[in-house]
Amino acid sequence: MVTREEIIEALKQVRYPGYSRDIVSFGLVKGVEFPGQGTVVRLEVNSAEANVPGILQERVAEAVGRLPGVGKPVDVRVKVNAASAGPDSLPEKSGIAGVRHIIAVASGKGGVGKSMVAANLAAAFQAAGRRVGLCDCDLYGPSLALMFGTSERPTMGEDELINPVTVSGVKLMSMGLLVEGHSPVALRGPMVTRYTQQFLRSVRWGELDVLVLDLPPGTGDIQLTIVQTLTLDGAVIVSTPQEVALIDARKAAGMFAKVGVRILGVVENMSYFLAPDSGKRYDIFGAGGAKLEAEKLGVPLLAEVPIEVAARESADRGHPIVWQDAGALTARAFIAAAGKIGEIFGWTN
Ligand SMILES: Nc1ncnc2c1ncn2[C@@H]1O[C@H](COP(=O)(O)OP(=O)(O)OP(=O)(O)O)[C@@H](O)[C@H]1O
Ligand SMILES: [Mg+2]
Repeated sequence: MVTREEIIEALKQVRYPGYSRDIVSFGLVKGVEFPGQGTVVRLEVNSAEANVPGILQERVAEAVGRLPGVGKPVDVRVKVNAASAGPDSLPEKSGIAGVRHIIAVASGKGGVGKSMVAANLAAAFQAAGRRVGLCDCDLYGPSLALMFGTSERPTMGEDELINPVTVSGVKLMSMGLLVEGHSPVALRGPMVTRYTQQFLRSVRWGELDVLVLDLPPGTGDIQLTIVQTLTLDGAVIVSTPQEVALIDARKAAGMFAKVGVRILGVVENMSYFLAPDSGKRYDIFGAGGAKLEAEKLGVPLLAEVPIEVAARESADRGHPIVWQDAGALTARAFIAAAGKIGEIFGWTN
């Protein structure tokens, strides 16, 4: 005979639809009983979403049914409390008041140029007259403040909302501020989730046309929390043409697909290098990989951004290349990408 504990263990593998957390940790499991030969699992949800109980029934019946020695049939009873959306402890997934569009810049692999892309997209939106916010969501390696040449610290208002720092009209905020004074080890798993959720709601962004989120590499706790807490308008996937980067880009794309976030397109960074002396083109990381990947995903290739010394220098000096020299090859690629995103959003000018 299977025990109650074994069933609970199995239920810990069952995720709430749309979330990565399991139904036990959300406190939805209200009882496990063994009447006669059968097994009854009782759940209670506060969900306004009509399909949630059915999905939970299927998932639970499957997970429990797989246990050897479980009494058949497995009867899953879901009680729905007419209330808010989602279980009690779930924050509602929503946008940010006053912010028209939220986009995430993501990659699977590190160091492929997410921050470069995020910073320059923000600069390009700003140059096009948009009201822009840019959030560095990397807890441990924040680089956007450097790319915008600021060491100014955000201040906290009386209402406990944090005021972003403004550089040439772009509102900047960094999640790295959260971990100051904490060792990275102290901030793992649930702590990261809690801080991230709290942080996303604690910034005074004001009225923005677009908020660009520069995500850390990979598909870990922070990325998941962000995509599950905020209603994103879309994600921009950054990759180099190299297969190792594309494999990880695919994983990142998979994460967004799973939570129903549309992919606005792929930016291929470090696409090629044009030697300034000879004009010869070098495909340092290979060629055409991101274009194929974009085709496979059925999304546009937003830009092919070359490796350019001026772009790197400009970033290191704290002035994105789009502002520094709008005619540079990299800058033109970023401006075109921002334009395509604007078109997707239906911006008319
Ligand atoms: N197109 C480019 N031309 C020249 N240098 C670039 C280009 N793109 C990025 N770089 C440089 O490469 C380095 C890595 O870029 P960046 O920090 O944007 O990557 P990332 O994907 O954000 O990294 P992480 O995964 O650590 O967050 C930086 O020093 C940046 O200035
Ligand atoms: Mg980065």
